[in-house]
Amino acid sequence: MRRVTKPLKPREDRYIFTEGVNYLKTGKASIWGSGDKDTLKILKELKIRGRWLNLAAGDGRYNLDLLKKADSVIASDIDESALSKLWHNTPERYKPKLETREFDITKKLPFKDSSFDGVFCTGALHLFPIKVFKSISYEIFRVLKPRGRAIIDFATDIRRVSPDGKRIKFGTEPSYSLKEAKTLLKEVFSNYKSRMYESKVSEEIKKGNPSYKFSCNFILLVADK
Ligand SMILES: C[S@@+](CC[C@H](N)C(=O)[O-])C[C@H]1O[C@@H](n2cnc3c(N)ncnc32)[C@H](O)[C@@H]1O
Repeated sequence: MRRVTKPLKPREDRYIFTEGVNYLKTGKASIWGSGDKDTLKILKELKIRGRWLNLAAGDGRYNLDLLKKADSVIASDIDESALSKLWHNTPERYKPKLETREFDITKKLPFKDSSFDGVFCTGALHLFPIKVFKSISYEIFRVLKPRGRAIIDFATDIRRVSPDGKRIKFGTEPSYSLKEAKTLLKEVFSNYKSRMYESKVSEEIKKGNPSYKFSCNFILLVADK
């Protein structure tokens, strides 16, 4: 039995974007939505095998899709309460393939070089300024095995609107345009053989603290080392 944990307060000045969500009170479904259709399609169609790392996995919106295909998955997040929900939501038969680890993705990742066949990261990388994004990307490259695969998304032109119509923006979060993000991703993933797809979220409720309507354009990147 895993212990129940408290929600983690955001510290945006330290790049901790946890939104103060109490995952223990959010029910079974992911607070980040049912999953983007293009991301789900990619997860379904692409070859995913071996040992995978799900970075900033949250309460596990895509984690089961990864677990069904990979040999094993480490789901990580800075918020232990999100990981606790992810673990409890995972069907028993997949738990032997799952490990959860709590850490900050802006620090050196706690794994040796060439540890993973794949790294997956959605809904998080757009939160960080260029310098931090580049250091996270460097770490992803380091922990990937030769010929390993990264699947990431990067949200741009973000709009969050609270129920009373106010725009929400997180303290130190940058505002990337689609064009800026494309240029950045091309540069940062130039060592990979990569494909970029464009998609968008038209309007979705995110059960942050408080809840808000969310829309954005985003890039999906599949990069082979
Ligand atoms: C919008 S949610 C996305 C969750 C999940 N990847 C998904 O697509 O549903 C962003 C996640 O990033 C995590 N996070 C924020 N700052 C972090 C940091 N510095 N290190 C690790 N995780 C972080 C949050 O706790 C949250 O679970």
